[in-house]
Amino acid sequence: MIDEKYDVLIIGAGISGLYAAMNLPEDKKVLVVCKDVPWECNTFYAQGGMVTALNDADVPVHIEDTLAAGAYHNDKEAVEILSRTSLETTADIIDKGMAFDSNAEGKILYTKEAAHSVERIVHAGGDATGRYMHYFMMVQNKHQLQKNTLVYDLLIEDGRCYGVKATVNYEPTTIYADDVIIASGGIGSLYAYNTNSRTVSADIHGICVEKGIELADMEFMQFHPTVFVDTPYARKLLLTEALRGEGAHIVDDEGRRFLFDYDDRGELASRDIVSRGIFDYKRKTGKQAYLDFSMFEAEWFEHRFPNITRTFAAIGYHFPQDKAPISPAFHYANGGIKCDINGCIPGMEGLYVIGEAARTGVHGANRLASNSLLEGVVFAKRATNHLLHKEKKAFQTPAFEKDYGNILHKENDKIYKQRLRQIMWDDIGIIRTTKGLHEAKNLIYDMKNKEIGRLLQLRLNTASAIVDAALARKESLGSHYIENE
Ligand code: SIN
Repeated sequence: MIDEKYDVLIIGAGISGLYAAMNLPEDKKVLVVCKDVPWECNTFYAQGGMVTALNDADVPVHIEDTLAAGAYHNDKEAVEILSRTSLETTADIIDKGMAFDSNAEGKILYTKEAAHSVERIVHAGGDATGRYMHYFMMVQNKHQLQKNTLVYDLLIEDGRCYGVKATVNYEPTTIYADDVIIASGGIGSLYAYNTNSRTVSADIHGICVEKGIELADMEFMQFHPTVFVDTPYARKLLLTEALRGEGAHIVDDEGRRFLFDYDDRGELASRDIVSRGIFDYKRKTGKQAYLDFSMFEAEWFEHRFPNITRTFAAIGYHFPQDKAPISPAFHYANGGIKCDINGCIPGMEGLYVIGEAARTGVHGANRLASNSLLEGVVFAKRATNHLLHKEKKAFQTPAFEKDYGNILHKENDKIYKQRLRQIMWDDIGIIRTTKGLHEAKNLIYDMKNKEIGRLLQLRLNTASAIVDAALARKESLGSHYIENE
């Protein structure tokens, strides 16, 4: 049962939302809401692992790897905080009982992914890190969690947030809170090919656009290089970068490791370079790209990547002997709702943003692999610290009459959503042209003027922010690549 008023409302039950909840004391009245069931979030599908600096000496090395992958567009202070705080947050999670994979002597096993100088990624369940961490945090969370809650408005007046309007089990409901933490994830459902949970559809970003809250770095959308896209489902099947970290190759139909044509590091170049290389090579040659595991011994592979082995066996691929056909697909929003190093949104009282929804500046123009689970915990902790220690100011809650609860969907939304997903993939994808971006901008604008529901309107607001940011950046940088005619 939802009450009218909370101390803290957290929108999203992925790693950042749940770790924020874990860091709020039990005597606070906290509500965590999620759109669907709690495990329908990107955290649940994260495979490879979570980065952690190994020790003090590794902090500057991790910082440099993060900056280099981000094309030095990162906020250096945020990256330093990310890396240094990882020593404390990883220890905290382990102390509270999270079991990362370890050897027979109980020593944690670290893996490597692209663009990391050393093995510093902790993992769980082999290739099911997100699922294990999510379960651990669900069990740790002592606060109320309400599923099936779709937020369609933020209650904002004169630079303060007072709560949200949402459907709770399909009933329009107003939820007031002294502080609201946005932990709603990224924008995956905007793209035809993506690895994200179907719940991740940029609604809150779209509300922010409407309210004049700034989104930043929205041109930097990250595409994961190794995804199996030949499935009818919206969420395409990720083949974790840890596979390449352990030694898998990317090859063409003749078994040639063509990525060395693009970068000396081959498969282990940063994600933007590998994605672009695969996309370009397929386009140029008409050849298929594959992930090749034939170098691995079967028993080891099944033990190290049990979920991938099982999932693909169910659709007829037998790893490690079979190769997997791959394509890049949208994976992660490097940009997001602009905030400071405590998750505070400039000019706004009572509103925080953390996790993939946030633009803290840690990722720059391209996120270093497996830095996202880490960002989720580090900045959730900072936001809750700030919230708990700030000076409390008394306020009166105004009345918010306007409600969109009965116009969330309209008849033709499905058709327009599909069209939008294709436009985003074709024109605001891995390789962009100025002409394509202008065409996309016009098509998005046209759709906004159709008879559409509130939720599609919000998606289109976010899509506009992405295309505008891409048009504003004339030169290629990191994951924003412009090929001019
Ligand atoms: C993966 O396992 O390849 C995804 C890791 C990430 O996106 O950081």
